[in-house]
Amino acid sequence: MLVTSQPLFKRFWYPVLPMSLLAEDKPQSFQLLGQKIVVWLAAEGKPAAAPDRCCHRSAKLSLGKVTDGLLECAYHGWQYDGSGSCLRVPQISTDAPIPKNYRINTYACEERYGYVWVCLEDPINKIPELPEASDPEFRLIPEFYEIWNCAGLRVMENEMDLAHPTFVHTTTFGSAEHPIPEELEITETDYGLRATATLGVVNPESQQKNLKMDSYITHRKLEMDWFMPFTCKLRINYPNGLVHIVVNTATPIDDKSSQIVQFCMRNDTEEQTKAADAIAFDRQVTLEDKAILESTDYDVPLDAKFEQHMMTDRPGLLMRRKLAAMLSTV
Ligand code: FES
Ligand code: CO
Repeated sequence: MLVTSQPLFKRFWYPVLPMSLLAEDKPQSFQLLGQKIVVWLAAEGKPAAAPDRCCHRSAKLSLGKVTDGLLECAYHGWQYDGSGSCLRVPQISTDAPIPKNYRINTYACEERYGYVWVCLEDPINKIPELPEASDPEFRLIPEFYEIWNCAGLRVMENEMDLAHPTFVHTTTFGSAEHPIPEELEITETDYGLRATATLGVVNPESQQKNLKMDSYITHRKLEMDWFMPFTCKLRINYPNGLVHIVVNTATPIDDKSSQIVQFCMRNDTEEQTKAADAIAFDRQVTLEDKAILESTDYDVPLDAKFEQHMMTDRPGLLMRRKLAAMLSTV
């Protein structure tokens, strides 16, 4: 499956930029599903997104600047508002009307969880709902914003593949003695999948103290949600009540690359765990995943016959089946 040959993917929301990258006066460019877009802070600090192309002589609007919420083209200075209307043409006198067809299209664009989310066409579902994001017990920590050279679907399958930690996460939490989860339950939902599992993992601190295996293995309870097509939420519940949630979107740039947008939410305080330490641990885990995922084929077959499978691939196979069913309806 190549993402750019499936127009239905344009109808989902994706995080494209952290809000913190959007300076007041500087638009940003991004490529979403092969489409070059420009993102800027329009009136009242609300983000706006449009094709990165001026309707006058096609210059890239991301080369321009933002003045009072209007996106100004760097070529001849036409200025557009957040709805795409051209409100100012320096070459036309201010009391003359601006022709109505001096305008650019805009995309659905919203701020959520500290990121700018964009949907290229007529959304068919909502931005993933994350109840913890509005729970005052939790803090949200932005983690990574980087390009991985692999398909988003591989990243999603990997999140729910509980056979890989033993082999991939050898420097972080993978346990050689626990190559499969103790339990794995999967249910289909309207937004995708929900899975719960228990996995034996290494607690690196205890292992370093050379304790017996029984004392350095934790039986970790995981709750995983897959939001079609490319967002996953992994909620880790620790016995002491600590909750660490990783939310990860593989925003599709083109067929071969994905923008990894990851943040975490935790119900502890900065005094208990420094945000930098939480990020550093997740960083090491994530780099282990990246190294292997970038070696996989970017054209992921939805038809089960083209790859071989095992029991722990059930969530991934369900993802493929659900995507295939959805794509076949258009
Ligand atoms: Fe944008 Fe001329 S190309 S104003
Ligand atoms: Co992993």
